[in-house]
Amino acid sequence: MPILDSETLEIFSRSADQTRRFGMRLGRMLQNGDVLCFSGDLGSGKTTFIQGIAQGWGSVDQVTSPTFVLVNEYYRMDGSTLFHMDAYRIDSTLEAEELDIDRMLHQGVLVVEWAERIDSVLPKERLTIKMAWVADEQRSLVMVPYGERYQTLLHSFRHRSFGV
Ligand SMILES: Nc1ncnc2c1ncn2[C@@H]1O[C@H](COP(=O)(O)OP(=O)(O)O)[C@@H](O)[C@H]1O
Ligand SMILES: [Mg+2]
Repeated sequence: MPILDSETLEIFSRSADQTRRFGMRLGRMLQNGDVLCFSGDLGSGKTTFIQGIAQGWGSVDQVTSPTFVLVNEYYRMDGSTLFHMDAYRIDSTLEAEELDIDRMLHQGVLVVEWAERIDSVLPKERLTIKMAWVADEQRSLVMVPYGERYQTLLHSFRHRSFGV
């Protein structure tokens, strides 16, 4: 677990299950209004990580990859929603503006794959997670917090994951 600087956390996963478990740990810590922005090539494990997030967050449904819909919604018993967006197919700022991000943040948590494609309509304060293929079963995750909420979140995540 090399820490690149005091705020960035880089972790390595050795299996899809481990990636899911990291996701579950993060998912348990999320609050309404939180924004997580994912980037990384196809197959780098974004959806796998997000499956764990949804499970840890408390979704009553199984998470699938939102390849054919822009936004998948997952629900929890307390009425809040986890919005899982795949921005891969969004090709204009206009289309992105129609997504009503503000409503989502009032209602729950927003998790975005290919977030860089709709960067201008997303809040500046966010946790970014950049995933990369290392080897068949190995992936790297570089997590960078922007804003106090995400510094605190990432600090707790690091503590719970690695005890430091
Ligand atoms: N350490 C790992 N972390 C995440 N996925 C892994 C890992 N090792 C192998 N995989 C596999 O890689 C694929 C990742 O796919 P997916 O999560 O859909 O990626 P993305 O959403 O980035 O396109 C899955 O088939 C998963 O089982
Ligand atoms: Mg995906």
